[in-house]
Amino acid sequence: MIIINHIQELQHHLNIAKSNGKTIGFVPTMGALHQGHIELVKKSISENNITVCSIFVNPTQFNDLSDLEKYPRTLENDSKLLAAVNCNIVFAPEIMEMYTQKELDLKIKNIEDKSWTDGKAVDFGILDKVMEGAQRPGHFNGVAQVVSKLFRIVQPNKAYFGQKDFQQLAIIRSMTKQLEMPIEIIACAIVREADGLAMSSRNVRLTEKERSIAPLIYKTLSAVKEKAHTLSVTELKSFAEKQIATEPLMQLEYFEIANAETLEIITELKSNTTAVACIALKLGNVRLIDNVVI
Ligand code: PAJ
Repeated sequence: MIIINHIQELQHHLNIAKSNGKTIGFVPTMGALHQGHIELVKKSISENNITVCSIFVNPTQFNDLSDLEKYPRTLENDSKLLAAVNCNIVFAPEIMEMYTQKELDLKIKNIEDKSWTDGKAVDFGILDKVMEGAQRPGHFNGVAQVVSKLFRIVQPNKAYFGQKDFQQLAIIRSMTKQLEMPIEIIACAIVREADGLAMSSRNVRLTEKERSIAPLIYKTLSAVKEKAHTLSVTELKSFAEKQIATEPLMQLEYFEIANAETLEIITELKSNTTAVACIALKLGNVRLIDNVVI
């Protein structure tokens, strides 16, 4: 496995591989890797000749500076985990390798930078407006900005994303289509701890007490899935809200049931449409999200 910090060096390696007919799989991450990330890497390794995993804590997708600063950075351990599964290339660029000062200035001034669309009229419709989009203004623009840059740099055949970030996956699919990028987007199932908590780089920031409470999130989602046959959407929402309210350390941001394809908020479950129950809450100071397909 090689670790590369510079775009030119990465492209040099990839050009040689591509000219030898090798296929490239790509797993973008922000590091602080756990088994959830590793499963994406393993899937990529099984489906491609060369797997590139990027580790870059992207400043433009954070809403507040303290969250960006508190984001765990564990490159040494990440490299060990990736080497253990035979990842081929780790791409770990510095901020100034990925962004111009002008782009960073726009972020500092809180001005949404759409230059990543390359002049195309990219429109996410409601995808970047509901749920995470409503709670975190500008977040998905930052995600699309960095992923489009990474896609242009790596030009992979396939790219791997976790269903943990269900809405992000929808945004990436939409972006790839609208920018006409010839990249297959592969969705991977959520990897959970034994007690059901969805693995997340943020989990290490939970106190022992908070960590012991955290399984209530998946417990609630699982109960919602089970009750979906008998309760209405309004009843399911009220059930979930009450469950989370039993834990004073949890502050619910939203619980929504949406159409799994369009992400439109659903008021009625129908047998011919797949729905997804999505939740976001704060547990102490840590913001957690999870979802379950119904
Ligand atoms: P990050 O949070 O590091 O996640 C990287 C990838 O791992 C995402 O596709 C995410 O959905 C997936 N992932 C995280 N936890 C998972 C779990 N428990 N099970 C399955 N997959 C999981 O998502 C980002 O980084 C960034 O927004 C990024 C796409 C890299 C752009 O900066």
